[in-house]
Amino acid sequence: MRNIVFAFSILVCSLPAMAQDQAFNYTVQKSVTARQGAVASAHPLASLAGLKMLQQGGNAVDAAIATQLALAVVYPSAGNLGGGGFLVAHLANGKELAIDYREKAPGRAHRDMYLDDKGAPIVKLSLDGHHAAGVPGTVAGLFASLPYGKLKMAQLIAPAIELADKGFVITAAEARSLNNLRKDFENLNTRPVAFVKQNEWKAGDTLIQKDLARTLRLIRDKGAAGFYQGETADKIVAEMQRGKGIISKADLKAYKAATRIPLRFPYKGYTILTMPLPSSGGVILQQLLGMTEKYPLAQYGFHSIAAVHLMVEAERRAYADRAEFLGDPDFVKVPVKAITQPQYLASRMQDFNPQQASSSTKIKAGQPKESEETTHLSVTDAQGNAVSVTTTLNGGYGSRVVVGGAGFILNNEMDDFSVKPGSPNMYGLLGTEANAIAPGKRMLSSMTPTIVLQGNRPYMVTGTPGGSTIITSMFQTIVNVLDFGLSESDAVNKPKFHHQWQPETVYVEKGFPDSTVAGLKKMGHKVDNRNAIGRVELITIKNGRITAVADNRGDDSAAGY
Ligand code: DON
Repeated sequence: MRNIVFAFSILVCSLPAMAQDQAFNYTVQKSVTARQGAVASAHPLASLAGLKMLQQGGNAVDAAIATQLALAVVYPSAGNLGGGGFLVAHLANGKELAIDYREKAPGRAHRDMYLDDKGAPIVKLSLDGHHAAGVPGTVAGLFASLPYGKLKMAQLIAPAIELADKGFVITAAEARSLNNLRKDFENLNTRPVAFVKQNEWKAGDTLIQKDLARTLRLIRDKGAAGFYQGETADKIVAEMQRGKGIISKADLKAYKAATRIPLRFPYKGYTILTMPLPSSGGVILQQLLGMTEKYPLAQYGFHSIAAVHLMVEAERRAYADRAEFLGDPDFVKVPVKAITQPQYLASRMQDFNPQQASSSTKIKAGQPKESEETTHLSVTDAQGNAVSVTTTLNGGYGSRVVVGGAGFILNNEMDDFSVKPGSPNMYGLLGTEANAIAPGKRMLSSMTPTIVLQGNRPYMVTGTPGGSTIITSMFQTIVNVLDFGLSESDAVNKPKFHHQWQPETVYVEKGFPDSTVAGLKKMGHKVDNRNAIGRVELITIKNGRITAVADNRGDDSAAGY
């Protein structure tokens, strides 16, 4: 475990050192308390890579970059070089950042590219294989973040290179997911890939990624050009040609991350700092908190029928607005101000009946008056910087296309566009013209990396994967801490619920109280069970004490010192 394992002082895991050239092993740490800094992410080795940067004098931005790069190696289902993401940061000097490195539609993309001759969606085309990929944004995003850190890329990328080169030991969950996807990897790729092994994967096996290590070295030596130009760009385009994809060299060379102004709004004496468009997450989170703020949630009680009903009805209305209005602000005019105003939000709740479910067929988007497989990591450091990053390939392992010779997986983010108005995407989300495909446009996202400030200091740093459930998971995590006063662990791990306007269903996780489900059904709600909702990483900083909690729903792990 050279370079990656640390002997942590108080309350933090210490991992056994391993012999040289042995694959990296680890243990999962669900919760840590710390004084100086902490990282929570989807994988222990990635959290430790971030922690190492903090301990080597880097700040939270450095740790976030190193963690993302390590995730691209040890968490291939969502960590990535071939995808995109969003970073929200509150820096100790008061500067606030929202870096948008969302994928873009290739130059040869067009509005109806996923429709057949009769105008019906060809669902697989936006999900599987080369055609599903948008132009990757992650590497540009890492370099756009770099000036806010203190360390050099060579130092930040070193743990990822080592993990790819020497390999790491996989868990039972990782073995299962690689085995499940074996056929896709075989069918969708034109070259043998590291994710397919002669026999089935099992827990304790080692995953080595030599091609990926080479790509990482090119990035280390040539910067963003090591990915968007030269050898790696050639390999991406060659892969496209083998699979009839449309990403061109010009698309790659032209890709730029965008620096945006974070969305900032008050909530019960705190300030929420979150991602603006092209994420729908921040706008919808503002709508949800705004619609429910005047109701006494704490008095209703955590998981009470009244609280869940209220939150579900707010979700129904907000997701109707999401479908109608939201899209890439560089391409469409979105009435963000109008649909987040308190009067507008109050008007949306005017027909809320505390005793009765509304109907999604009757609830439409509002009428604003105008004067729009993922993974999350949260980081804090000793200087008071806080960084929240959500990054994604979209579905698990994205398009399942591994760029031949370059060892990284391409996203299937094109499915986040509205392929056809009224036609749901893989998360059941609907959209209209605002989120239609156009060359160079960014597809609407739900990713909601968020920081809650108390005064001007970070209080919560949080985010999650989960497609359409990301926003409702963030809504719940925030009210779980601020309104219901839950511990960090409970705020993250207690069962969650979700409603997204269409379909007309409240989804609840296993373990959700039966009495609440019965109460909701009595009010006319349709309630269904579903698998895990979200995988939240939460850090709180209360009176100088840092608590980092990694979600129990996966192998997620926290590290701190
Ligand atoms: O950007 C989005 O909203 C989706 N591509 C996120 C996908 C996701 O969270 C998958 N993880 N479970």
